[in-house]
Amino acid sequence: MTNLNVDIRGLKNFVDEKTIAAFTSELVLHQGSLLNKTGKGNDFLGWITLPDEVDANLIESIENDARYVARAADIYVVIGIGGSYLGARAIIEALQNNFAPLLSRDHRGKPLVVYAGNNISEDYMADLIKILDQRDYALTIISKSGTTTEPAIAFRILRKHLEDKYGKEEARRRIIAITDQSKGALKRLAVAEGYKTYVVPDDVGGRYSVLTPVGLLPIAVAGFDIRQFVAGAKAMKELVTTAKTIDDNPAFKYVAARNALYRAGKPVEVMVNYQPSLTYLTEWWKQLFGESEGKENKGIFPAGVSFTTDLHSMGQYVQEGLRILFETVLSIEQPQKNITVPLEEDDADGLNFIAGKRISAVNREAERGTLLAHIDGGVPNIIISLPEINEYTLGQLVYFYEFSCALSGYVLDVNPFDQPGVEAYKKNMFALLGKPGFEKQTEELRERLK
Ligand code: PA5
Repeated sequence: MTNLNVDIRGLKNFVDEKTIAAFTSELVLHQGSLLNKTGKGNDFLGWITLPDEVDANLIESIENDARYVARAADIYVVIGIGGSYLGARAIIEALQNNFAPLLSRDHRGKPLVVYAGNNISEDYMADLIKILDQRDYALTIISKSGTTTEPAIAFRILRKHLEDKYGKEEARRRIIAITDQSKGALKRLAVAEGYKTYVVPDDVGGRYSVLTPVGLLPIAVAGFDIRQFVAGAKAMKELVTTAKTIDDNPAFKYVAARNALYRAGKPVEVMVNYQPSLTYLTEWWKQLFGESEGKENKGIFPAGVSFTTDLHSMGQYVQEGLRILFETVLSIEQPQKNITVPLEEDDADGLNFIAGKRISAVNREAERGTLLAHIDGGVPNIIISLPEINEYTLGQLVYFYEFSCALSGYVLDVNPFDQPGVEAYKKNMFALLGKPGFEKQTEELRERLK
């Protein structure tokens, strides 16, 4: 059963119903192309069936490793970048205590998950090492290619740190590698060193990999229920891969709405959350849609804000800046916890009119009021709602976004499964670093930087 809902009433003043309905036949065709593997990038469609393929053996193996890590470590370092870490981080941060980093272990006795290899900051690495000097830790290196610079540097450093701290034998037991089945530098190293490994399937790209061990292992180590997460994804798969109308298929509705707005002169989609714990879900969504759609000089630009925090900064732009935006609000109906606003006798701040109300009731009216204010300011909105945040609803949401992204890429007529544009910075970086084979570019670029 699914309980994710897409509401597009906020498009009323901007796009008419006929325009939305007109997407139906095209979306049915694209749904078929994805399922029959006849569209662009059809060698990267393994993610579609992942919810059916995560079998009991894989789940048990991951849960065993998660228990092992929890016994051996207070801190679990996930090394990866882009699709090799954002999905896990999005789910873990959505589920864990907002202040988990302040706790010595997570409040449920699980290791705290921290991230490395997602930047090349020397200060970040030095700060992490300072903590790891003092605490027991284990690590997972995730890289499908096995050659990505950022995680490779972090792994070089932390592998040595781990070996110096525990000795080679024990360090080996504290490292799990997630990489290609048979090729790449990381695979070769993992075999040579005898690390436990998991596979990123050939036909699953990084940003579509959260339902493989890439996402499942870190989420399980953090103590969350990966069976429920996969079950939620499976329920959503059954719906979005079969339903054939905009009313019945939430992915059709979302894709039709966002593409209608794009064609109506709104090329920027701002993903809005009202819970700080969802910030990394927005980061993952930004990667999924940005890397999938932004090519051939086309694509909706995915941006993100956290309200009400950003209503006091970006809110001004959204209300009155360039009218190129639409909003998609990820709306959570029920919080997990319960705190009310206290009554104060002198009512110095004038807030006694909300005394006794839950904070979430205030947040809800902030959300509803903002939606109307932004519509009045020329910013249409789509609402994606979930009854609450848990593993099952997040599984639904992840699959919903993935399928929507693939459909939307096809509507834009791009290949949503490649990322040729990310090579440009890498080539320049390697040339400037003097990598053998790049001599000509090294000279040219250094000249340009003079
Ligand atoms: O979605 C993607 O394909 C990318 O974000 C990759 O996941 C990212 O570049 C990391 O690649 P790799 O897993 O090969 O280290």
